[in-house]
Amino acid sequence: MTGCSSGFGELIARTLARDGHHVFATMREVGSRNAGHASALRAWATELGARIDVLEPDVTSDSSVHAAADEMLRQAARIVVLVNNAGVAASGPLEAFSLEQVEALFGLNAFGPLRVSAAVLPTMRGQRSGLIVFVTSTLGRVLPRRGGLYASTKWALEGLAESLHYEVVRFGIDVAIVEPGSFPTPATSKAMQAQRAHIVAAYSDRAAQPRRVVDPARAPPDPQEVADAIKVLVDLPHGQRPLRTVAGAVFTEGVAEYNAAYERTRDHLAAVLQRPDQAMTWTPAQAAPPRRQSGP
Ligand SMILES: NC(=O)c1ccc[n+]([C@@H]2O[C@H](COP(=O)([O-])OP(=O)(O)OC[C@H]3O[C@@H](n4cnc5c(N)ncnc54)[C@H](OP(=O)(O)O)[C@@H]3O)[C@@H](O)[C@H]2O)c1
Repeated sequence: MTGCSSGFGELIARTLARDGHHVFATMREVGSRNAGHASALRAWATELGARIDVLEPDVTSDSSVHAAADEMLRQAARIVVLVNNAGVAASGPLEAFSLEQVEALFGLNAFGPLRVSAAVLPTMRGQRSGLIVFVTSTLGRVLPRRGGLYASTKWALEGLAESLHYEVVRFGIDVAIVEPGSFPTPATSKAMQAQRAHIVAAYSDRAAQPRRVVDPARAPPDPQEVADAIKVLVDLPHGQRPLRTVAGAVFTEGVAEYNAAYERTRDHLAAVLQRPDQAMTWTPAQAAPPRRQSGP
């Protein structure tokens, strides 16, 4: 599973290891910046008699993801579950990000999980089993009259994950999308900041937009809820795992209902596709643009 240096990832790794799984927890810069996190996780596992190995892929790099997948397969005969959790938030209006920043965030949040999934899929197809979890966000489903770069990457990830679900189910592989609401993790402090400060300034009235007021008397949501939701999915038998799970109680209002309505529309369109009178492919004659009438 990816992104185990902090936040949900660390909790998911501990939760699955506590449950008896051999966990390959991945994080970047194990020898430097994340050395403390890696050794704490290893020490915790040793004390508990759990199995956690730390690997070091950067999800934006083909060679690093393949090296980690090879190492994992050297140690484990089967892959039960891949959790695509690594991701980074972003702050600032769209116009203020350079295109390099936009590409980098899509590369990390949307294409990274696809790259890691592609690295394990041949093994999962071969074993004809497996579960791939994608951690997206409620912001990957609904834009509350504001969106931005981060939300857009999660919308892309939702589309990739759902598409993969339809493609790999024939191999006995499940895909599950977990959509957390808002949780206190280090994500905000690690967010990508829009590069063009003068453009950020031009949008500064955004700050005047109403923001959700946090009630200081209310206990903040516990990120363990996301780890628990993933454990539930892992424990369910193949074929019974829901495609989407909304996790948490803050900033999740109405999303499960939205997902249910979406599924109804999806199933309706899927049924329409089966009707011969609703063909979606056209003959060349039907597709040809109408001929212009020449003048008298
Ligand atoms: N917290 C929330 O409210 C919330 C809500 C909805 C969805 N999410 C999603 O939940 C996931 C986990 O976030 P979190 O809240 O737990 O934040 P977090 O503590 O910042 O965790 C993000 C993880 O992603 C890793 N990562 C970043 N870039 C990477 C890369 N190129 N390759 C490999 N790993 C990389 C980070 O590692 P480093 O230590 O190396 O940076 C870190 O371990 C993210 O996908 C996030 O978008 C969070």
